[in-house]
Amino acid sequence: MTKLPKLGFLYLDYVLRFFDHSNFKGWPDKIEEVVYHWKNDKKRFIKEVKAKNIDVLIGNIPATAYDTFVEISKELPHVRFVPSLETQFPNKSKENVTLFCDKYNLSAPKTKIYYDNEKGYKYLKNKAKYPQIIKRSYGPSNYGGYYVHKADNFKEAHELLEDKKYSPIYTQDAIDLKFSGDLRVMLIGHKPICAFWRFSGDGEWITNTSQGGSISYENVPMNALELAVEASKAAKAEYWACDIAICAKTDKAYILECATAFAAFPYIRDWIGQYLMWDFSNGRFPMPHVPLFSWEELGKVDSSLLRTMRHIGFSKYKPSCDGTWYINDPEDKFDMEEALLSNPNDVPASIAPEKLPIKKDLLKDTKKSKIEVNKINFNTASLTQIMTLHGMEEELALEIQEYLLDNVVTDSSDLLELESVDEQLIKVWDDSIDDMRVNINDADEDTLKKIKGIGSKLAKIILNFKEEVKKFSDLDQLKELDGIGKNKLAQLKSRLKIGE
Ligand SMILES: Nc1ncnc2c1ncn2[C@@H]1O[C@H](COP(=O)(O)OP(=O)(O)O)[C@@H](O)[C@H]1O
Ligand SMILES: [Mg+2]
Repeated sequence: MTKLPKLGFLYLDYVLRFFDHSNFKGWPDKIEEVVYHWKNDKKRFIKEVKAKNIDVLIGNIPATAYDTFVEISKELPHVRFVPSLETQFPNKSKENVTLFCDKYNLSAPKTKIYYDNEKGYKYLKNKAKYPQIIKRSYGPSNYGGYYVHKADNFKEAHELLEDKKYSPIYTQDAIDLKFSGDLRVMLIGHKPICAFWRFSGDGEWITNTSQGGSISYENVPMNALELAVEASKAAKAEYWACDIAICAKTDKAYILECATAFAAFPYIRDWIGQYLMWDFSNGRFPMPHVPLFSWEELGKVDSSLLRTMRHIGFSKYKPSCDGTWYINDPEDKFDMEEALLSNPNDVPASIAPEKLPIKKDLLKDTKKSKIEVNKINFNTASLTQIMTLHGMEEELALEIQEYLLDNVVTDSSDLLELESVDEQLIKVWDDSIDDMRVNINDADEDTLKKIKGIGSKLAKIILNFKEEVKKFSDLDQLKELDGIGKNKLAQLKSRLKIGE
């Protein structure tokens, strides 16, 4: 067992606590807490972290404490901050988001930042394409658009900036928002675990759900997820959120904001906790399994309930209990069998058959009639037919079809080459599979060469030989071919046949 690191929560007075012990259910050791008290608390804070022997400090740092914590982290070189200070860089300001997107070449609206007002006004007057979105760059984060403004022309931009006195001037091209909304994508370990549209309220252009907007977990576009993954990887983020705009005209995705700090239901914070436990323990704790698009289902749950749901788990697909038993049944004791047609003689003797409400003509045919099930030849079967095989799943059926592009299957065991096929599965299919051996007298070169153990060279030799003998009457004739020994012959005989 690997030694577990000593964990601590990084808290700050007056700042919402994103994590607490309940998110780290199952962590066997005590998790420390260290609270930063603002104003000249650096030294004391560092001392406390050292005294508590903390290896990992978990928590988001608010924008206004970012620089202080860059210094603190330098004095605690052996402490791992999660998320790291580098990862939290875009938390600090909108300017940092822009610098981050530039550095990693992530799609974002064209943005200009000026510390010199005259230069800023010159840009806004002569070059900027309106509307421009003007934002306060730095400050306590997430005011839900309170510091975000739209200017339709230079006059508006100038008046706004004279009034608000934002420094720096942070101005960017407005994206023509598809569905008048933007997307919030949350990720854990670079995997999107929740995503939703946020639509603006009536008469609003900003998508602020606390001001009458609404959200929808449906139809989140793939390119938004992809961009969010790119950003998360660039930030090396354990957890991450992106606000993404989709252009109504081009469908292109743009990052508006990204950070490790965001609002999230407790069940999401539980997943992050579980993910971090996996990370900190080198796999001793399981990584949470969160299927992509699970938010579409969870989003159907009323939000008042979502707020209270905890430790939601998803498992990987497994056959049901009885199904597993059936697949593993060594003696076929509980093998499923075709039910025979019943007949009047089955009824216990005390009841006379003629008293039963059975139609007369049915009584005549009491012979056991066996229904012939169409057996499957993989080489000719449709996807639907393949799907009827026991335990078959869509993904495997597609994989088999792909395999058949380059191979002719003469026995189900050929499919053992596929990762998801094993002996047991093949055994279960046995009764449903037709004789798939290939008739040597009608096989063409293309078919022959795709059979396991034949290949183009031998296919040609066989076909030349067939021309000589006209028709094979016995597979033993293959013995006469060059290079065909006993073993090869046996192999060919299991894959080929004479006539139907
Ligand atoms: N460049 C832009 N084009 C169009 N809409 C934008 C743009 N930037 C921001 N918005 C709108 O304003 C909202 C708030 O902007 P954001 O940068 O996320 O600031 P906040 O920190 O207030 O959340 C966004 O969710 C989006 O609806
Ligand atoms: Mg925002």
